[in-house]
This record gives sequence, structure tokens and C-alpha cells, in this order.
Amino acid sequence: MSTAAFADKVAIVTGGASGIGEAVCRRLSAGGAKVVVADFNGEAAQALADTLGNAIAVQLDVADAEAVRRMVERSVEAFGALHLAVNNAGIGGPSHPTADYPLEDWHRVIGVNLHSVMYSMKYEIPAMLAAGGGAIVNMASILGSVGWSGSIPYVAAKHALLGMTKTAAMEYAPKGIRINAVGPGFIDTPLLSNLDPQVYASLVGLHPIGRLGTADEVAALTCFLLSGDAGFITGSYHLVDGGYTTR
Ligand code: NAI
Repeated sequence: MSTAAFADKVAIVTGGASGIGEAVCRRLSAGGAKVVVADFNGEAAQALADTLGNAIAVQLDVADAEAVRRMVERSVEAFGALHLAVNNAGIGGPSHPTADYPLEDWHRVIGVNLHSVMYSMKYEIPAMLAAGGGAIVNMASILGSVGWSGSIPYVAAKHALLGMTKTAAMEYAPKGIRINAVGPGFIDTPLLSNLDPQVYASLVGLHPIGRLGTADEVAALTCFLLSGDAGFITGSYHLVDGGYTTR
């Protein structure tokens, strides 16, 4: 991808301060985009925005619709338009079998991983229409395709996100907005930082490629989907999973 692939584009990345989101921010910025690093962790978001230059930080909880509306408003105020968005913020939630899953945790994981994507698209799309078009990537997971014991709300959210991606893509393709989903396998990011080495090794064994993915490998696919090179791609779900779902 050329260093000018995103020249003059304005991009929001939720969960932009860490892991996959941070790698996406770095690639977009290297491609010339003005980046909004939107994250719950305001300090980390600000530190990354300062490093990137031509970027701002927005502290928010993506499960709060009004905060998401303000995030989009702030982005347009700061940079004059919105063209690109990566709805990436997510949490794993605790692990419990379905019958024991605490409802409070169910609601929080659904709020952060699913409702947030609806709120984001709801407010990003009008701003992109005003800019004459755009592109969105919603961060799903291989757990949008298959189940995972102990993670009922996470799996539910990631599956649902694919249907939302297809529906919104259908609605806005004629108006110049492409919307796709990315499904990473297990990626070595802070989300997995608390795993004990045995669990880590067992996760590696689930990927025929023989290792976990890197945040930058997910960012590369995401940025391709946001770029003009992906101009005929919309409403689809793209895996970056080291072969996880071949089994
Ligand atoms: P991470 O934990 O490294 O980064 C997530 C970022 O989101 C953090 O900066 C965090 O502060 C922010 N965040 C969390 N809750 C938020 C909230 N309520 N409002 C705003 N920001 C919030 O995680 P990672 O691994 O980079 O994950 C990013 C996305 O990729 C998530 O949607 C995750 O479900 C998905 N994913 C990750 C995989 C992995 O193995 N790491 C695999 C498949 C999907």
C-alpha cells in the first residue's frame, strides 16, 4: 500500500490505543490519514495521538450511545469530515458456562462488543454520507464463525456483528459506503496478556500456521479493506486466522 493511500482521509479507530486498534492507527497514519484514536483509556489514546501527529484522542465508553455520537461530532469538528472507521473496541469478558454466566457481565460484553458497533455505524454513516462516501470495518473474530466454551456473550456479539455488517452494507453500498468485517484468529495482544503459558501453547496449537497472529497482520487486512484497492468489496467477512477455521 502506498504511503499516500489515505491522504486527506479522516479515520476513527475505536479501541485505538492498544493491540489491533493501535496497529491500525499506525498504518492509517503512515498512509497519510488524520486519525481519531478513540478509547476508554484516554491517557494511552493521547500518548498514541501525540506520537502519530495529525491525530487526536477521544476518551469514551463505546457502550454509551451519546458518547459515540460525540466522538463522531468531535472528529468532524477537528478534521472537517469523516471517511473511514474501524469499530474495533472490544472486551473478552469473564469465562463461565452459559447457565452460570452473570447477567451483569452478559450485558457489559454485549454493550461493549455489539451495541457499540450499532451506535458507531449509526453516527458514522451520516458523517460519511456528508463527505461523499467512505468505508467501515467492524472487528469480529473467528468467534463470529464458531463457538467458544465459556464466552456466550462474546460469541453472540461477534456472530451478530456479521449480520449487522451485511445489512448496513446492503443499505449503503448504493450511496458510496463500503462496510466489511474482519475475523482474526487468536492474536498476540494485551487482550491475551493474562493467559498462563500452558493455555497460550494450547491456543497456538489451534492454528495450523503454528503461532498466534500479530496485531499488524490484522491491521494490514483491515487497511486493505478501507483502501481504494478494495473498491468492489462490501458486506463480506474476511478471516485472518492462521487456518483456525479450516478444522
Ligand atoms: P486490546 O485489549 O489490546 O485493545 C482493546 C482496546 O479497546 C483497549 O485500548 C481498550 O482500552 C479499548 N476498550 C475496551 N473497552 C472499551 C470501551 N468500552 N470503550 C472504548 N474503548 C474500549 O484488544 P485487541 O486484542 O486489540 O482487540 C481488539 C478487537 O479485536 C476486539 O474487538 C477483539 O474482540 C477483537 N479480536 C481480538 C482477538 C485477539 O486474539 N486479540 C481475536 C479476535 C478478535
